[in-house]
Amino acid sequence: MRLLIRNIKQLVQVEEKARRLVSGKDMSVIPLISDAYLLTGSGRIMDFGRMEDLPEELKYSQKGIKIIDASGRIVFPSFCDSHTHLVYAGSREAEFADRIKGLSYEEIAARGGGILNSARLLHKTSEDDLYRQSMVRINEIIELGTGAVEIKSGYGLNTEDELKMLRVMRRIKEESPLEIRSTFLGAHALPAEYKNRREEYVDLVINEMIPLVASENLADYIDVFCDKGFFTVEDTERILMAGLKYGLLPKIHANELAFSGGVQAGVKYGALSVDHLERTGEAEIACLTGTDTVPTLLPGSAFFLGLPDPPARKMIKAGLPVAMASDYNPGSSPSGNMKMLMSLGCIRLKMLPEEALNAVTINSACAMGLSGTHGSVCRGKVANLFITKEIPSYQFLPYAFGTDLIETVILKGEIIKTLSLSKQMVN
Ligand code: NIG
Ligand code: FE
Repeated sequence: MRLLIRNIKQLVQVEEKARRLVSGKDMSVIPLISDAYLLTGSGRIMDFGRMEDLPEELKYSQKGIKIIDASGRIVFPSFCDSHTHLVYAGSREAEFADRIKGLSYEEIAARGGGILNSARLLHKTSEDDLYRQSMVRINEIIELGTGAVEIKSGYGLNTEDELKMLRVMRRIKEESPLEIRSTFLGAHALPAEYKNRREEYVDLVINEMIPLVASENLADYIDVFCDKGFFTVEDTERILMAGLKYGLLPKIHANELAFSGGVQAGVKYGALSVDHLERTGEAEIACLTGTDTVPTLLPGSAFFLGLPDPPARKMIKAGLPVAMASDYNPGSSPSGNMKMLMSLGCIRLKMLPEEALNAVTINSACAMGLSGTHGSVCRGKVANLFITKEIPSYQFLPYAFGTDLIETVILKGEIIKTLSLSKQMVN
């Protein structure tokens, strides 16, 4: 079935030629077509343009083409969420209350809570149940406009449970219409039984886990939580080198809790992205400049944990490309809402709506190696799109931070969701 979307008020993030990413001051530009049409076929974007240039043969209804009228509505490329941990068991709202009462994220982790708490829950959860719980989140983010998502392991922390998580991701790849990339994050936290034996755990990750993950082809990328109280630069470099031998490109957690040296380590090993970056100074910005590593900000976790915000403005001013992702996880960001994330980017990080939109589409696609096929409206790219309710402009999306504005979700050219309230005006 082909889809023809007509009378689109604004078709945003259009490209004649696919770009890898958008940097610096170019981030404040969103190419768009007003009063537009878009045609899909075989799951791809076939054509688009101004309504006045609609080809003659598309003016009348035809067999095999479903027509959607998008009068008053905006069409966006689906969000690309390049950093999540959405395969997990249970939840951690008791720690949420502990933090409200004054404990810090690091204090909770140091007393055996945090990631280790999720690891205990995951250990007790069967693979089927883990799949079922994770699919609820997958379906939730589809409704929220996400079309591609990266998911990390890291709540296993032993070989068997890490493989369990990665197999769940493989099953999600097979069953869901989302584009999925999976990342092995064995070095997410030190398991309790390795207390004071960090090097031995790193050896286990390198000598046992990585070869098994690679032999079953379970991961696309490799990650390390390179931060104060977790893994050192030396651990990180050893793990990244071992992963690279098996073709696992790095995407790492860096500089969330301290100036950890993680940014420099990531750049040194050609990381696709370095993520978090709440602690970023001139040295980190200089180190990223001119490299292919995408700085990825996770304002949901800075917001949820009350951390300092990463210096997005300084990065953009320095000419860097900035991506944003949800970090959807039970401890620091229990939300995969990319629209809300755009609002946080604007409100907390002082990004313009245009910069925030580039950060959650083309740049976050690049941060998971997908900007050739996702992250913009470009002929030949995968037809992952969403159509809003009637709204005044694309800038209304991050502005109306608490309102669900997505009416229709299209993934691989198929309509996944249409709200029944389609005729309702929002403003
Ligand atoms: O990205 N920083 C490390 N990992 C996650 C949090 C995981 C958790 O608390 O469960 C993050 O914030
Ligand atoms: Fe994370």
